[in-house]
Amino acid sequence: MPFDFDRVIDQHNTHSLKWDAMESRLGLDHPDMLPMWVADMDFAAPPAVAEMLHLMADRSVFGYFGDDRDYKRAVCDWMAKRHQYEVDPDWITTSHGVVAGVGSALHSFTQPGDGIVVFSPVYHAFGSTIRAAGRSLIESPLKLVQGRYEMDLEGLATQIDAKTKIIILCSPHNPGGRVWSRQELIDLCKFCETHDLLLIADEIHHDLVFDGHQHWVTANAYPDIADRLITLTAASKTFNLAASMTGNVMISNAQLRETFMTTVKGMGASSPNRIGIEMVTAAYAHGEDWLEALLPYLQANANRFDEAMARIIPGVRSMKLEATYLAWCDFSETAYCIDEAVARVQDVARIAINKGPVFGEGGQTWLRFNLACPRSTLDEAIRRLETAFQD
Ligand SMILES: Cc1ncc(COP(=O)(O)O)c(C=O)c1O
Repeated sequence: MPFDFDRVIDQHNTHSLKWDAMESRLGLDHPDMLPMWVADMDFAAPPAVAEMLHLMADRSVFGYFGDDRDYKRAVCDWMAKRHQYEVDPDWITTSHGVVAGVGSALHSFTQPGDGIVVFSPVYHAFGSTIRAAGRSLIESPLKLVQGRYEMDLEGLATQIDAKTKIIILCSPHNPGGRVWSRQELIDLCKFCETHDLLLIADEIHHDLVFDGHQHWVTANAYPDIADRLITLTAASKTFNLAASMTGNVMISNAQLRETFMTTVKGMGASSPNRIGIEMVTAAYAHGEDWLEALLPYLQANANRFDEAMARIIPGVRSMKLEATYLAWCDFSETAYCIDEAVARVQDVARIAINKGPVFGEGGQTWLRFNLACPRSTLDEAIRRLETAFQD
Protein backbone atom coordinates (compact mmCIF):
# COMPACT_ATOMS: atom_id res chain seq x y z
CA MET A 1 0.00 0.00 0.00
CA PRO A 2 1.50 3.41 -0.92
CA PHE A 3 0.20 4.94 2.33
CA ASP A 4 0.82 3.05 5.51
CA PHE A 5 -2.34 3.34 7.62
CA ASP A 6 -1.13 0.34 9.64
CA ARG A 7 1.74 2.36 11.07
CA VAL A 8 1.33 3.05 14.79
CA ILE A 9 2.54 6.55 15.62
CA ASP A 10 3.25 7.26 19.27
CA GLN A 11 1.37 10.43 20.14
CA HIS A 12 1.84 10.43 23.89
CA ASN A 13 3.22 13.70 25.26
CA THR A 14 2.72 15.59 22.00
CA HIS A 15 0.01 17.94 23.35
CA SER A 16 -2.60 15.92 21.47
CA LEU A 17 -6.14 16.43 22.76
CA LYS A 18 -7.04 12.86 21.87
CA TRP A 19 -3.98 11.24 23.47
CA ASP A 20 -2.85 13.62 26.17
CA ALA A 21 -6.08 15.04 27.59
CA MET A 22 -7.89 11.87 28.65
CA GLU A 23 -6.96 12.49 32.26
CA SER A 24 -7.70 16.22 32.35
CA ARG A 25 -10.91 16.05 30.30
CA LEU A 26 -12.30 12.62 31.13
CA GLY A 27 -10.62 11.73 34.43
CA LEU A 28 -9.13 8.59 32.83
CA ASP A 29 -5.60 8.19 34.05
CA HIS A 30 -4.65 4.60 33.26
CA PRO A 31 -1.30 4.67 31.41
CA ASP A 32 -2.44 2.39 28.59
CA MET A 33 -5.78 4.02 27.75
CA LEU A 34 -6.79 3.66 24.12
CA PRO A 35 -8.32 6.92 22.89
CA MET A 36 -11.37 6.36 20.69
CA TRP A 37 -13.02 9.66 21.49
CA VAL A 38 -12.01 13.01 19.82
CA ALA A 39 -12.66 12.92 16.04
CA ASP A 40 -9.01 12.94 15.02
CA MET A 41 -7.45 10.10 13.05
CA ASP A 42 -4.28 8.34 14.21
CA PHE A 43 -2.87 8.31 10.65
CA ALA A 44 -0.09 10.44 9.20
CA ALA A 45 -1.60 13.13 6.95
CA PRO A 46 -0.86 13.14 3.20
CA PRO A 47 2.93 13.45 2.69
CA ALA A 48 2.53 16.77 0.83
CA VAL A 49 1.50 18.40 4.10
CA ALA A 50 4.73 17.46 5.88
CA GLU A 51 6.72 18.49 2.79
CA MET A 52 5.11 21.92 2.91
CA LEU A 53 5.81 22.26 6.63
CA HIS A 54 9.44 21.22 6.05
CA LEU A 55 9.76 23.92 3.42
CA MET A 56 8.37 26.48 5.83
CA ALA A 57 10.64 25.26 8.62
CA ASP A 58 13.70 25.43 6.35
CA ARG A 59 12.82 29.01 5.50
CA SER A 60 12.05 29.70 9.16
CA VAL A 61 10.44 33.05 8.57
CA PHE A 62 6.90 33.04 9.87
CA GLY A 63 5.39 36.34 8.85
CA TYR A 64 1.76 37.26 8.22
CA PHE A 65 -0.28 35.62 5.50
CA GLY A 66 -1.07 37.85 2.56
CA ASP A 67 -2.33 36.13 -0.58
CA ASP A 68 -5.20 33.69 -0.44
CA ARG A 69 -5.58 33.07 -4.19
CA ASP A 70 -3.79 29.69 -4.24
CA TYR A 71 -5.72 28.59 -1.19
CA LYS A 72 -9.11 29.54 -2.56
CA ARG A 73 -8.26 28.00 -5.93
CA ALA A 74 -7.39 24.73 -4.18
CA VAL A 75 -10.67 24.76 -2.24
CA CYS A 76 -12.74 25.59 -5.34
CA ASP A 77 -10.98 22.91 -7.43
CA TRP A 78 -11.63 20.34 -4.72
CA MET A 79 -15.31 21.25 -4.44
CA ALA A 80 -15.74 21.14 -8.21
CA LYS A 81 -13.92 17.85 -8.66
CA ARG A 82 -15.09 15.90 -5.62
CA HIS A 83 -18.52 17.45 -5.10
CA GLN A 84 -19.56 18.92 -8.45
CA TYR A 85 -20.08 22.25 -6.72
CA GLU A 86 -18.80 25.33 -8.55
CA VAL A 87 -17.74 27.78 -5.86
CA ASP A 88 -16.77 31.36 -6.68
CA PRO A 89 -13.59 32.13 -4.68
CA ASP A 90 -15.21 35.36 -3.53
CA TRP A 91 -17.86 33.38 -1.64
CA ILE A 92 -15.24 31.96 0.73
CA THR A 93 -14.22 33.45 4.06
CA THR A 94 -11.81 31.41 6.14
CA SER A 95 -12.53 30.87 9.81
CA HIS A 96 -10.58 29.62 12.78
CA GLY A 97 -12.11 26.18 12.21
CA VAL A 98 -15.69 25.23 11.44
CA VAL A 99 -17.03 25.77 14.95
CA ALA A 100 -15.74 29.35 14.83
CA GLY A 101 -17.61 29.69 11.53
CA VAL A 102 -20.81 28.52 13.23
CA GLY A 103 -20.28 30.95 16.11
CA SER A 104 -19.60 33.87 13.76
CA ALA A 105 -22.75 33.04 11.78
CA LEU A 106 -24.83 33.01 14.96
CA HIS A 107 -23.51 36.44 15.90
CA SER A 108 -24.00 37.74 12.37
CA PHE A 109 -27.56 36.66 11.75
CA THR A 110 -29.27 36.30 15.13
CA GLN A 111 -29.84 38.13 18.39
CA PRO A 112 -29.54 36.82 21.96
CA GLY A 113 -32.64 34.78 22.75
CA ASP A 114 -33.27 33.74 19.13
CA GLY A 115 -33.95 30.06 18.51
CA ILE A 116 -31.45 27.84 16.70
CA VAL A 117 -32.45 24.35 15.62
CA VAL A 118 -30.23 21.27 15.60
CA PHE A 119 -31.16 17.69 14.76
CA SER A 120 -30.16 15.73 17.83
CA PRO A 121 -28.24 13.71 18.75
CA VAL A 122 -25.61 15.82 17.00
CA TYR A 123 -22.04 17.08 17.25
CA HIS A 124 -21.94 18.58 20.73
CA ALA A 125 -20.16 21.85 19.91
CA PHE A 126 -23.27 23.13 18.13
CA GLY A 127 -25.21 23.14 21.38
CA SER A 128 -22.38 24.54 23.48
CA THR A 129 -21.73 27.34 20.96
CA ILE A 130 -25.44 28.22 20.74
CA ARG A 131 -25.76 28.32 24.52
CA ALA A 132 -22.55 30.30 25.03
CA ALA A 133 -23.80 32.84 22.51
CA GLY A 134 -26.97 33.28 24.58
CA ARG A 135 -29.18 31.84 21.84
CA SER A 136 -31.87 29.30 22.56
CA LEU A 137 -31.16 25.70 21.58
CA ILE A 138 -34.04 23.87 19.91
CA GLU A 139 -33.39 20.15 19.62
CA SER A 140 -35.35 18.38 16.92
CA PRO A 141 -34.94 14.68 17.80
CA LEU A 142 -34.00 12.47 14.87
CA LYS A 143 -36.33 9.52 14.33
CA LEU A 144 -34.85 6.03 14.27
CA VAL A 145 -36.33 4.35 11.21
CA GLN A 146 -35.07 0.85 10.47
CA GLY A 147 -31.87 1.55 12.33
CA ARG A 148 -31.01 4.87 10.67
CA TYR A 149 -31.79 8.46 11.45
CA GLU A 150 -34.42 10.56 9.70
CA MET A 151 -35.36 14.18 10.28
CA ASP A 152 -38.81 14.88 11.69
CA LEU A 153 -39.83 18.10 9.97
CA GLU A 154 -43.48 17.71 10.94
CA GLY A 155 -42.49 17.57 14.58
CA LEU A 156 -40.10 20.47 14.11
CA ALA A 157 -42.88 22.65 12.72
CA THR A 158 -44.57 22.42 16.13
CA GLN A 159 -41.38 23.38 18.00
CA ILE A 160 -40.48 26.65 16.28
CA ASP A 161 -41.87 30.17 16.53
CA ALA A 162 -41.16 33.68 15.24
CA LYS A 163 -37.93 33.85 17.24
CA THR A 164 -36.49 30.78 15.51
CA LYS A 165 -33.93 32.01 12.99
CA ILE A 166 -31.49 29.28 11.95
CA ILE A 167 -31.31 25.54 11.39
CA ILE A 168 -27.90 23.91 11.68
CA LEU A 169 -27.61 20.78 9.58
CA CYS A 170 -24.75 18.32 9.99
CA SER A 171 -24.28 16.72 6.58
CA PRO A 172 -23.15 13.94 6.64
CA HIS A 173 -24.41 13.54 10.16
CA ASN A 174 -22.21 13.12 13.24
CA PRO A 175 -22.91 10.91 15.12
CA GLY A 176 -24.50 8.05 13.20
CA GLY A 177 -22.89 8.72 9.83
CA ARG A 178 -26.09 9.37 7.87
CA VAL A 179 -25.59 10.69 4.34
CA TRP A 180 -28.75 12.71 3.70
CA SER A 181 -30.48 11.92 0.44
CA ARG A 182 -31.18 14.63 -2.09
CA GLN A 183 -34.90 14.44 -1.30
CA GLU A 184 -34.28 14.84 2.43
CA LEU A 185 -32.18 17.94 1.73
CA ILE A 186 -34.83 19.36 -0.61
CA ASP A 187 -37.49 18.85 2.06
CA LEU A 188 -35.34 20.59 4.64
CA CYS A 189 -34.56 23.51 2.32
CA LYS A 190 -38.25 23.96 1.54
CA PHE A 191 -38.97 23.90 5.27
CA CYS A 192 -36.47 26.76 5.67
CA GLU A 193 -38.22 28.71 2.90
CA THR A 194 -41.66 28.15 4.36
CA HIS A 195 -40.58 29.25 7.83
CA ASP A 196 -38.17 31.98 6.72
CA LEU A 197 -35.09 30.38 8.30
CA LEU A 198 -31.42 30.50 7.41
CA LEU A 199 -29.69 27.17 6.95
CA ILE A 200 -26.14 26.48 8.13
CA ALA A 201 -24.90 23.31 6.44
CA ASP A 202 -21.85 21.95 8.24
CA GLU A 203 -20.42 19.63 5.59
CA ILE A 204 -17.07 18.99 7.28
CA HIS A 205 -17.48 15.20 6.87
CA HIS A 206 -18.33 15.45 3.15
CA ASP A 207 -15.27 13.56 1.91
CA LEU A 208 -15.52 10.61 4.29
CA VAL A 209 -18.38 8.89 2.50
CA PHE A 210 -18.45 5.14 1.86
CA ASP A 211 -19.15 3.25 -1.35
CA GLY A 212 -22.80 3.12 -2.28
CA HIS A 213 -23.60 6.52 -0.79
CA GLN A 214 -23.51 9.95 -2.35
CA HIS A 215 -23.08 13.17 -0.45
CA TRP A 216 -25.14 16.01 -1.91
CA VAL A 217 -23.82 19.50 -1.32
CA THR A 218 -26.92 21.23 0.06
CA ALA A 219 -26.51 24.05 -2.45
CA ASN A 220 -26.62 21.50 -5.30
CA ALA A 221 -29.51 19.52 -3.89
CA TYR A 222 -31.75 22.57 -3.94
CA PRO A 223 -30.14 25.57 -5.68
CA ASP A 224 -33.01 27.89 -4.67
CA ILE A 225 -31.72 27.74 -1.10
CA ALA A 226 -28.65 29.81 -2.05
CA ASP A 227 -29.93 33.08 -0.62
CA ARG A 228 -30.47 31.61 2.82
CA LEU A 229 -27.55 29.17 2.94
CA ILE A 230 -24.21 29.22 4.75
CA THR A 231 -22.04 26.22 3.84
CA LEU A 232 -19.14 25.19 6.05
CA THR A 233 -16.33 22.90 4.96
CA ALA A 234 -12.78 22.16 6.01
CA ALA A 235 -9.93 19.83 5.15
CA SER A 236 -9.49 18.88 8.79
CA LYS A 237 -11.61 15.71 8.86
CA THR A 238 -10.72 14.67 5.31
CA PHE A 239 -6.94 14.79 5.79
CA ASN A 240 -6.56 14.67 9.56
CA LEU A 241 -5.53 18.30 9.87
CA ALA A 242 -7.45 19.56 12.90
CA ALA A 243 -4.34 21.47 13.96
CA SER A 244 -4.67 23.63 10.84
CA MET A 245 -7.66 25.33 12.53
CA THR A 246 -8.85 26.50 9.14
CA GLY A 247 -12.44 26.29 7.97
CA ASN A 248 -14.27 27.61 4.93
CA VAL A 249 -17.44 29.62 5.21
CA MET A 250 -19.11 29.74 1.78
CA ILE A 251 -21.86 32.29 1.28
CA SER A 252 -23.03 33.05 -2.24
CA ASN A 253 -25.51 35.76 -1.26
CA ALA A 254 -23.59 39.07 -1.26
CA GLN A 255 -25.63 40.71 1.48
CA LEU A 256 -25.36 37.77 3.87
CA ARG A 257 -21.67 37.55 3.12
CA GLU A 258 -21.09 41.20 3.89
CA THR A 259 -22.94 40.91 7.18
CA PHE A 260 -20.85 37.86 8.04
CA MET A 261 -17.57 39.55 7.15
CA THR A 262 -18.46 42.61 9.20
CA THR A 263 -18.90 40.36 12.24
CA VAL A 264 -15.62 38.59 11.61
CA LYS A 265 -13.79 41.91 11.22
CA GLY A 266 -15.51 43.20 14.35
CA MET A 267 -14.04 40.28 16.26
CA GLY A 268 -10.59 41.00 14.80
CA ALA A 269 -10.59 37.52 13.30
CA SER A 270 -10.26 38.18 9.58
CA SER A 271 -6.58 37.27 9.23
CA PRO A 272 -6.04 33.56 8.48
CA ASN A 273 -3.50 31.27 10.07
CA ARG A 274 -0.75 31.03 7.47
CA ILE A 275 0.56 27.68 8.62
CA GLY A 276 -2.91 26.16 8.54
CA ILE A 277 -3.61 27.63 5.12
CA GLU A 278 -0.40 26.16 3.70
CA MET A 279 -1.18 22.73 5.17
CA VAL A 280 -4.66 22.71 3.70
CA THR A 281 -3.57 24.01 0.28
CA ALA A 282 -0.99 21.21 0.03
CA ALA A 283 -3.52 18.57 1.09
CA TYR A 284 -6.17 19.66 -1.40
CA ALA A 285 -3.63 19.91 -4.19
CA HIS A 286 -1.83 16.60 -3.58
CA GLY A 287 -3.89 14.55 -1.14
CA GLU A 288 -6.54 12.92 -3.30
CA ASP A 289 -4.72 9.56 -3.70
CA TRP A 290 -4.25 9.43 0.04
CA LEU A 291 -7.98 9.94 0.57
CA GLU A 292 -8.83 7.27 -1.99
CA ALA A 293 -6.60 4.82 -0.12
CA LEU A 294 -7.98 5.87 3.26
CA LEU A 295 -11.68 5.28 2.55
CA PRO A 296 -11.54 1.48 2.08
CA TYR A 297 -9.31 1.23 5.14
CA LEU A 298 -11.93 3.06 7.23
CA GLN A 299 -14.72 0.98 5.74
CA ALA A 300 -12.86 -2.22 6.63
CA ASN A 301 -12.33 -0.95 10.19
CA ALA A 302 -16.03 -0.17 10.50
CA ASN A 303 -17.04 -3.63 9.25
CA ARG A 304 -14.57 -5.32 11.57
CA PHE A 305 -15.76 -3.33 14.56
CA ASP A 306 -19.46 -3.90 13.85
CA GLU A 307 -18.95 -7.66 13.50
CA ALA A 308 -16.98 -7.77 16.73
CA MET A 309 -19.52 -5.72 18.69
CA ALA A 310 -22.41 -7.91 17.54
CA ARG A 311 -20.45 -10.97 18.69
CA ILE A 312 -19.16 -9.56 21.98
CA ILE A 313 -22.19 -7.69 23.32
CA PRO A 314 -25.54 -9.34 22.54
CA GLY A 315 -28.19 -6.77 21.71
CA VAL A 316 -25.82 -3.90 20.92
CA ARG A 317 -26.75 -2.04 17.75
CA SER A 318 -23.97 -0.28 15.88
CA MET A 319 -25.49 2.12 13.34
CA LYS A 320 -24.42 1.22 9.81
CA LEU A 321 -22.02 3.99 8.87
CA GLU A 322 -22.67 5.65 5.53
CA ALA A 323 -19.98 8.24 6.27
CA THR A 324 -17.47 9.26 8.96
CA TYR A 325 -15.31 6.95 11.07
CA LEU A 326 -17.38 7.40 14.23
CA ALA A 327 -19.20 4.21 15.22
CA TRP A 328 -22.44 4.95 17.07
CA CYS A 329 -23.55 2.10 19.29
CA ASP A 330 -26.84 1.71 21.12
CA PHE A 331 -26.79 -0.25 24.38
CA SER A 332 -30.53 0.03 25.14
CA GLU A 333 -31.24 -3.57 24.14
CA THR A 334 -28.25 -5.05 25.94
CA ALA A 335 -28.05 -6.43 29.44
CA TYR A 336 -26.19 -3.30 30.58
CA CYS A 337 -27.50 0.06 31.65
CA ILE A 338 -25.48 2.85 30.09
CA ASP A 339 -23.45 3.58 33.24
CA GLU A 340 -22.46 -0.09 33.44
CA ALA A 341 -21.53 -0.10 29.74
CA VAL A 342 -19.40 3.03 30.17
CA ALA A 343 -17.68 1.55 33.22
CA ARG A 344 -16.80 -1.61 31.32
CA VAL A 345 -15.58 0.25 28.23
CA GLN A 346 -13.65 2.98 30.01
CA ASP A 347 -12.54 1.42 33.30
CA VAL A 348 -12.17 -2.25 32.40
CA ALA A 349 -11.31 -2.14 28.67
CA ARG A 350 -9.50 1.19 29.15
CA ILE A 351 -10.96 2.71 26.01
CA ALA A 352 -11.88 6.40 26.03
CA ILE A 353 -15.13 7.03 24.16
CA ASN A 354 -17.69 9.82 23.81
CA LYS A 355 -20.81 9.24 25.89
CA GLY A 356 -24.09 9.62 24.02
CA PRO A 357 -25.81 12.20 26.26
CA VAL A 358 -23.16 14.77 25.23
CA PHE A 359 -24.77 14.75 21.77
CA GLY A 360 -28.13 15.77 23.18
CA GLU A 361 -31.64 14.40 23.14
CA GLY A 362 -31.77 10.82 21.87
CA GLY A 363 -28.16 10.03 22.75
CA GLN A 364 -28.83 8.69 26.25
CA THR A 365 -28.18 5.00 25.59
CA TRP A 366 -25.44 5.38 23.00
CA LEU A 367 -21.63 5.46 22.95
CA ARG A 368 -19.44 6.80 20.14
CA PHE A 369 -16.21 5.00 19.18
CA ASN A 370 -13.64 6.60 16.86
CA LEU A 371 -12.41 3.90 14.46
CA ALA A 372 -9.78 5.95 12.59
CA CYS A 373 -6.83 4.02 13.93
CA PRO A 374 -4.39 1.39 12.67
CA ARG A 375 -5.91 -2.09 12.38
CA SER A 376 -3.69 -3.39 15.20
CA THR A 377 -5.06 -0.69 17.53
CA LEU A 378 -8.60 -1.59 16.57
CA ASP A 379 -7.89 -5.27 17.21
CA GLU A 380 -6.44 -4.42 20.60
CA ALA A 381 -9.62 -2.48 21.41
CA ILE A 382 -11.73 -5.45 20.30
CA ARG A 383 -9.68 -7.82 22.49
CA ARG A 384 -10.14 -5.55 25.47
CA LEU A 385 -13.89 -5.29 24.88
CA GLU A 386 -14.08 -9.12 24.65
CA THR A 387 -12.53 -9.36 28.10
CA ALA A 388 -14.57 -6.54 29.58
CA PHE A 389 -17.87 -8.04 28.43
CA GLN A 390 -16.98 -11.73 28.66
CA ASP A 391 -19.71 -12.55 31.17
C1 LIG B 1 -19.82 18.14 12.43
C2 LIG B 1 -18.56 18.76 12.94
N1 LIG B 1 -18.35 20.07 12.75
C3 LIG B 1 -17.21 20.66 13.18
C4 LIG B 1 -16.23 19.94 13.82
C5 LIG B 1 -15.00 20.63 14.30
O1 LIG B 1 -14.51 21.51 13.36
P1 LIG B 1 -13.31 22.50 13.69
O2 LIG B 1 -12.28 21.72 14.41
O3 LIG B 1 -12.89 22.96 12.34
O4 LIG B 1 -13.88 23.60 14.50
C6 LIG B 1 -16.42 18.57 14.02
C7 LIG B 1 -15.39 17.79 14.74
O5 LIG B 1 -15.58 16.66 15.10
C8 LIG B 1 -17.60 17.96 13.57
O6 LIG B 1 -17.83 16.65 13.72
